[in-house]
Parts: sequence; structure tokens; C-alpha cells
Amino acid sequence: MALNVSTLKAEPNLYTPEMAALTEVVPQTELETLFKFELQSGNPLGHEPGQFVQVSCLGIGEAPISVSSMPCPEPTFDLCVRNVGNVTAALHNMTAGDAVGIRGPFGHGFPIDALKGKDLLFVAGGIGLVPVRSLIQMVLANRDEYAAVTILYGFKTPGEMLFRDEIAQWQEREDVDLRLTVDKPHSDWDGHVGVITTLFPELEIQPDRTKAIVVGPPIMYRFVLQECKLKGIGDDDIILSLERRMRCGVGKCGHCQINNKYVCQDGPVFTYNDIKFMWEAI
Ligand SMILES: Cc1cc2nc3c(=O)[nH]c(=O)nc-3n(C[C@H](O)[C@H](O)[C@H](O)COP(=O)(O)OP(=O)(O)OC[C@H]3O[C@@H](n4cnc5c(N)ncnc54)[C@H](O)[C@@H]3O)c2cc1C
Ligand code: FES
Repeated sequence: MALNVSTLKAEPNLYTPEMAALTEVVPQTELETLFKFELQSGNPLGHEPGQFVQVSCLGIGEAPISVSSMPCPEPTFDLCVRNVGNVTAALHNMTAGDAVGIRGPFGHGFPIDALKGKDLLFVAGGIGLVPVRSLIQMVLANRDEYAAVTILYGFKTPGEMLFRDEIAQWQEREDVDLRLTVDKPHSDWDGHVGVITTLFPELEIQPDRTKAIVVGPPIMYRFVLQECKLKGIGDDDIILSLERRMRCGVGKCGHCQINNKYVCQDGPVFTYNDIKFMWEAI
């Protein structure tokens, strides 16, 4: 049965964190770890793929983190976090049973209705796969609602590949065209070598029915956007997710502002058309 996201949607928890228990820690790479949480209220998080939560580690601070699992009726959800600073290091020191505060879900996620019936081209670089995984899981759980599904995933070295077991399952599926690449040759890798744009020439794209979902480091956007345009994909059909320094997450503090947009509220997901004239966006 198709999963209806709208029925799971809850009023976001704007200012008061709700406690969530860490139920499982799944190491991914040297820097990134997948954390599985359960809200103590017993309610579902009620997110859409592409939305984020503000995670607080008590006594340390808060950080915006994308929800990496698909919406579900249970109070459980996944966050995949890179250890880079105070809050993310505190998370990495936690063990099952520890608790964090959660505000959200916040922001605009991927436009699910606009994706239905379309060919989907996912282009994820590095940790960009984290928010995209939520959408991919949802698309694969409702596979007959979408046309062709192509996933391009690039990472710098084989050791930086996330979600290995799940990717192996995507690779097995006949209804998914998955292409992986590492930036440079490596003794542990016998697959494609080259930056993610080197996967584009082989792709057969029907631009009039394709939506590209592109998430990765800022440098990737410039070159992937060029490739999407060379394939004839329209600016409205290219969907990106932006990262900005955030504080409130709810459009009050201005930390995430780019021109007249608040990334926390108007995004983090935008179409390229929405942001192409905002020079500092990408
Ligand atoms: C919408 C959104 C979704 C995100 N999703 C994810 C996700 O799913 N997974 C994930 O791992 N990350 C995600 N991030 C990034 C994540 O929010 C940051 O890595 C996190 O806030 C870091 O918090 P921290 O307290 O651990 O690091 P901090 O202690 O804040 O430090 C982080 C880094 O920034 C530097 N720094 C700190 N303050 C400043 C400053 N004022 N100016 C410049 N540099 C500074 C530090 O030296 C350090 O290198 C997301 C960000 C956004 C906006
Ligand atoms: S984080 Fe405060 S306005 Fe966006």
C-alpha cells in the first residue's frame, strides 16, 4: 500500500525540544555515524524527505541535521552525522539509551507530488546522500508511482561510502540504475573512477519527463548543474538542498538568510529556478 506522507505530518515542535532516545549506533565511515532515535512521546516525527531537525545535546548546543530515513508511522527516525565540532562530537560519544532534544521537523522538503510519474535522476556527492536517502527509501517503497530511477553517488575514497548494505540492495534491484564513482583510483576500488560529472555522458535522459535531485558539496553544484543543463533538464526540474549556518531553524534569527530567503524556512530544498539569481546560494 502506498505511504501517504500527509497523514503522518505533525505540527512542528518550534521552540521546545522533545526528548528522543538513541536506540542504535551504526558506524558508517571514519567520520560519519548513523544514529537511530525514538521519540519518547511515542508520536511519529511526521517529517517529509528533505526536512531537518534541530538536535540538542544537553549542555552543549544544537545543530541542524537532515532526517535520513523515510517517513513512517512509528516514533523512530535516522540521523547520519559527520563528526566536525561540538554537538556532532557529543553525539558521537553517546551510546544506546542516551537522550537528545529534537525540535522540528523544519523547512521545505522535496516536492513529492511533482516527482510522481517522472523519471528521477538522483545525484548525490559525499554526505549529500544523507537527506537524499530519505527520499530514495520513499520512492523505492512506492516504486510504481515513479518512472525510471537513476542514482549517481560519488565519494572521494571507497572508505567514505555511506549506507553500504542498503546500497548493495539498491544495486540488486532491476528497477534502479545505480552508478557509483570515486574521485581518484584506489587499490580497494574496481568500479568507475572520476568525479560525479564523468557519469553523465553515458546517461540517456528524457529531459521533458526528468526531475534531477542534486545534493552535495557546494563545488559539485556548479559542475552538475552544467551537466543537467547540457542534458536539457529545465531549471524548474532541478531540485537542490542547501546548507547554511543556522540557529533558530524557524525564520526568526536571520543566520541562514540569503537575499530574501531563509534557508531554514523557504528551503533547505529549492528548485534551481528559485535560487539561480542568488549568487551566494551555491
Ligand atoms: C539544513 C541542514 C541539514 C544538515 N544536515 C546534516 C546531516 O544530515 N548530517 C551532518 O553531519 N551534518 C548536517 N548538517 C551540517 C551540520 O548542521 C553541522 O555540521 C553542525 O551544525 C556542526 O555542529 P557542531 O556543533 O558539531 O560543530 P561546531 O562546533 O559548530 O563546528 C563546526 C565546524 O564549523 C567551524 N565553525 C564553528 N563556528 C563557526 C563560525 N561561526 N564560522 C565559521 N566556522 C565555524 C568549526 O571550526 C568546525 O569546523 C546540516 C546543516 C544544515 C543547515
Ligand atoms: S536559522 Fe534562524 S532564520 Fe533561519
